[in-house]
Amino acid sequence: MSGADRLTDLMRRGTEFLGCEVAVMCGAMSWVSERTLVAAISNAGGFGVIACGAMTPELLDAEIAATAERTHKPFGVNLITMHPQLTELIAVCARHAVSHVVLAGGLPPKGSLEAIKATGAKVIAFAPALSLAKKLMRTGVDALVIEGSEAGGHIGPVSTNVLAQEILPEVAGDIPVFVAGGIGRGEAIAAYLEMGAAGVQLGTRFVCAHESIAHPNFKRAFLRASARDAVATVQVDGRLPVIPVRALKNAGTHLFSDHQRTVAQRLDTGEVAMAEAQLQIEHYWAGALRRAVVDGDVEHGSLMAGQSVGMVTAEEPAADILARLVAQAAVALDARGLGSPRMAQLEDLDS
Ligand SMILES: Cc1cc2nc3c(=O)[nH]c(=O)nc-3n(C[C@H](O)[C@H](O)[C@H](O)COP(=O)(O)O)c2cc1C
Repeated sequence: MSGADRLTDLMRRGTEFLGCEVAVMCGAMSWVSERTLVAAISNAGGFGVIACGAMTPELLDAEIAATAERTHKPFGVNLITMHPQLTELIAVCARHAVSHVVLAGGLPPKGSLEAIKATGAKVIAFAPALSLAKKLMRTGVDALVIEGSEAGGHIGPVSTNVLAQEILPEVAGDIPVFVAGGIGRGEAIAAYLEMGAAGVQLGTRFVCAHESIAHPNFKRAFLRASARDAVATVQVDGRLPVIPVRALKNAGTHLFSDHQRTVAQRLDTGEVAMAEAQLQIEHYWAGALRRAVVDGDVEHGSLMAGQSVGMVTAEEPAADILARLVAQAAVALDARGLGSPRMAQLEDLDS
């Protein structure tokens, strides 16, 4: 069996679940994953996901409609569980008969899962640990994403590699699992599929797609960066929790540490109470991703990026990125392509 056939076989569960040709999801990225990129990914055979982020129901309604005008292929919508209008957002998805809803930002609040399933949509949820994967399965989610700390954006503490080893053997037989975080090449996709994944989710790799509306400054920062530039935010004071976010380091990263120290001092002197101090920490990055992605402020905005950023070396069409990932995965799976001939094939793909 050729590597390409084996890849099709390994992806079948994922492609049947998503209703697309290649079991590669482009993970929702706030401000980046809008109509143009989402439609481009789905049109290329992958699975695009709209990032609802902090959008109002009206904005989400317009975004879904505009995406559906650009593609007849399936795409998903990512909703953040703590959005104050989650119920209304679910109703918007229902009106558009959205086929897949990805729930991010923690365990689904009571009733939300049932509300989504009642619309006929499939629910995909993030499982940051084996115990939570099992819990989510019991609540009736249809698929899981396991995302390691190499990923861009909000992250957990455990690497993709370890999550995959812990979670796939236990649950992949019962539910489709998509692996995310740090994937930049097809060989890694092939490896996770062989471990039992139904597919993968990539974000960072698609930021510099031609169709991505990210500001040219944002894309330039990605093209220049290497893996070690994509760092997790650091908590400076034990009393003031920081939800870790992986992003390219810039002036904002350093100023955030100064800000934490200043707030901690205000707490020491009694100038602010604990609740207010924690809010001041949380609010520091408010709007920061938008400032970087939309306005191009790459110094003080948040340049959310995963460690695979070093493998983003050119701006190119989403379809080309997807095609190369698929070709690399097929070569890696080609039983005949062992040893140096296989390396030569992979080098050809790089040139
Ligand atoms: C710029 C950026 C913004 C993101 N925004 C979101 C988001 O709004 N919701 C979400 O669930 N994940 C978000 N993510 C995570 C992606 O959906 C995806 O899971 C992640 O990028 C996969 O890891 P990778 O970056 O290593 O490919 C974001 C990632 C990036 C790089």
